[in-house]
Amino acid sequence: MLIGVPKEIKNNENRVALTPAGAKELVKQGHQVYLQENAGAESGFGNELYRKAGATILPSIEEIYRVAEMILKVKEPIEPEYPLIRENQLLFTYFHFASYEPLTKAMINSKAVCLAYETVEKADRSLPLLIPMSEVAGRMAVQKGANYLEKPLGGRGILLGGVPGTLPAKVLILGGGVVGTHAALMAAGLGADVTILDVSLPRMRYLADMMPPNVKTMMSNEYNIRKLIPSADLIIGAVLIPGAKAPHLITRDMLKEMLPGTVLVDVAVDQGGCIETCQPTTHENPTYVIDGVLHYCVANMPGAVPYTSTLALTNATLPYVLEVAEKGWKNAAIQNPELRAGLNIIDGEVVYKAVADTFSLEYVPVEKHL
Ligand SMILES: NC(=O)c1ccc[n+]([C@@H]2O[C@H](COP(=O)([O-])OP(=O)(O)OC[C@H]3O[C@@H](n4cnc5c(N)ncnc54)[C@H](O)[C@@H]3O)[C@@H](O)[C@H]2O)c1
Repeated sequence: MLIGVPKEIKNNENRVALTPAGAKELVKQGHQVYLQENAGAESGFGNELYRKAGATILPSIEEIYRVAEMILKVKEPIEPEYPLIRENQLLFTYFHFASYEPLTKAMINSKAVCLAYETVEKADRSLPLLIPMSEVAGRMAVQKGANYLEKPLGGRGILLGGVPGTLPAKVLILGGGVVGTHAALMAAGLGADVTILDVSLPRMRYLADMMPPNVKTMMSNEYNIRKLIPSADLIIGAVLIPGAKAPHLITRDMLKEMLPGTVLVDVAVDQGGCIETCQPTTHENPTYVIDGVLHYCVANMPGAVPYTSTLALTNATLPYVLEVAEKGWKNAAIQNPELRAGLNIIDGEVVYKAVADTFSLEYVPVEKHL
């Protein structure tokens, strides 16, 4: 298969969809890989590394879209890319269609095949191509939180792990899924006093078994949250209710109960945030203060660590990329239900029900195209 990897053009997106190691695997299996010049540069992978792996470097994004049967990307295509997409071309990337109608309409009009990372789904309903970014964001939430707790950055001036003779900082994590688990492991590793709140007892049983002793679990409800916030130093929002907006577990009035300089990191910002006062921020301008409480609500946290994020993402995507390249998207989707779940739009028809429902578009079962 002819595989094209364009350079990401979305603001501040430094990841790339394929590493030199991935390019080598594809070339070894007889595929041709075309990489846009400097597509991997911001992730630390120069053109030469791809050349050595057997890829061909092309100077422009137009050429990548012109030659490739499969376009491998990280973020959804943005307006300047729409006219480059060809009929029947396969696009394998994050789309998040439900959050942006113009993209959905543009992909319908393009008649391309849209295979979305975010809806590739395993039999246990887990989303293998979303997990790596949640791992990155969870770990980063603690790094950021620890940093912003420093006085010159607006925090309380408490060291997360304390030192002998002082108590460590208290970290409250709302939601013990992928983000929450990785945040808890990082905070616990630094010596903090960590409490994870979740609504799932089986999940909390699992966490209680695998976490170190400085991590406790507690049922998530308003009563418990109100009890814990007056003494919390760092609060991390990591709740997810699949397909729905995040519930506001921290309401505006609760900010008054918190210590001045408490830091809130709402990782769930991309689902509306689980803190009522959460507003999306960017890496350029990541924080703001309300009622003396510092908020960090960056919607694209993994974008700040492109080296790690690119490796984490491609570790997860490559097996699927190899399968699609070998079998073609149709046979791969027939044989592998995980990939079938990733198909969102084919030849102008929406084949993913949630996307069709969101925009009141006609839903066509994916089987019609297989
Ligand atoms: N900002 C970013 O850059 C970034 C990056 C990755 C993920 N995210 C977001 O982080 C959020 C968490 O993702 P995840 O992968 O950990 O999800 P997940 O499904 O693994 O975990 C969510 C957890 O929330 C729990 N939960 C549900 N309702 C709750 C409640 N009322 N109180 C407490 N816990 C509750 C669930 O039981 C589950 O354990 C999502 O919104 C995701 O989109 C953001």
